[in-house]
Amino acid sequence: MTKIKYPIGVFDSGYGGLTVLDELIKLMPEYDFIYLGDNARAPYGTRSFDVIYQYTLQAVEKLFSMGCKLVILACNTASAKALRTIQQKDLPRIAPNRRVLGVIRPSVEQLGLLSQSKHVGVLGTPGTIRSESYLMELAKLYPDFIVSQEACPTWVTLVENREYDNVGGRYFIKKHIDAILSKDEKIDTLILACTHYPILKDEIGDFLPDHIQLISQGQIVANSLKVYLNRHPEIDQVCSKNGELKFYTTESISDFEEKASVFLQRDLKAQHIILS
Ligand code: DGL
Repeated sequence: MTKIKYPIGVFDSGYGGLTVLDELIKLMPEYDFIYLGDNARAPYGTRSFDVIYQYTLQAVEKLFSMGCKLVILACNTASAKALRTIQQKDLPRIAPNRRVLGVIRPSVEQLGLLSQSKHVGVLGTPGTIRSESYLMELAKLYPDFIVSQEACPTWVTLVENREYDNVGGRYFIKKHIDAILSKDEKIDTLILACTHYPILKDEIGDFLPDHIQLISQGQIVANSLKVYLNRHPEIDQVCSKNGELKFYTTESISDFEEKASVFLQRDLKAQHIILS
């Protein structure tokens, strides 16, 4: 009997998760993915715990209703604020055989392997930074590390509105790079703990000393998903593999198609969706 198979769901508050999807497509081109961007309600990073949790749960349920057996929260803010509750409280009730994975754990594992000085910096949204998720995960895996954090409340908006490559945008990028580096002069590795931030990589690089490495999460998450699927053949077997991509947004379709095609460097068609 042939099993019915389903795409993998990829969720973000807006466009940021496309930096993860981009790497997923490169590493696993045969898999089908559904991307859902809650652009109408982005940014999430400045919202309260309860709101982020509710919005994320709505998105996960929507992706489940489209058949996804596995959903990646390609958003640190959602991973930090909603993942654990969804995994522990909601999944056993609504979908015990489906899985939701986040981006923080695999990122922390790599961060620990890449730093020589054991002094690292985390750049994220106010929600991710306030949650202290990176501090807690690093303390568990690498207790001897010294971690500095910096919330960058304007960066997601700079990306969503493509306002980063001008004097105003560069001012806000430099401001937070200077701030985190002034917290600890031994930092040798910075992680972009927000999936929107890789879009700012070139501008950030302009303000970073050469000896500091800058890590984005796309490849890390893609590698970790591949390992996960190897370890969980029962999930891999229900993932459809026709190389198909579908895109949904809670905002304007034409805006999404135009901006997302720049992020992914390919033309795409999106559909509108309502989350409630
Ligand atoms: N890409 C999301 C993240 O990784 C952005 C969050 C937001 O919407 O503020 O945190």
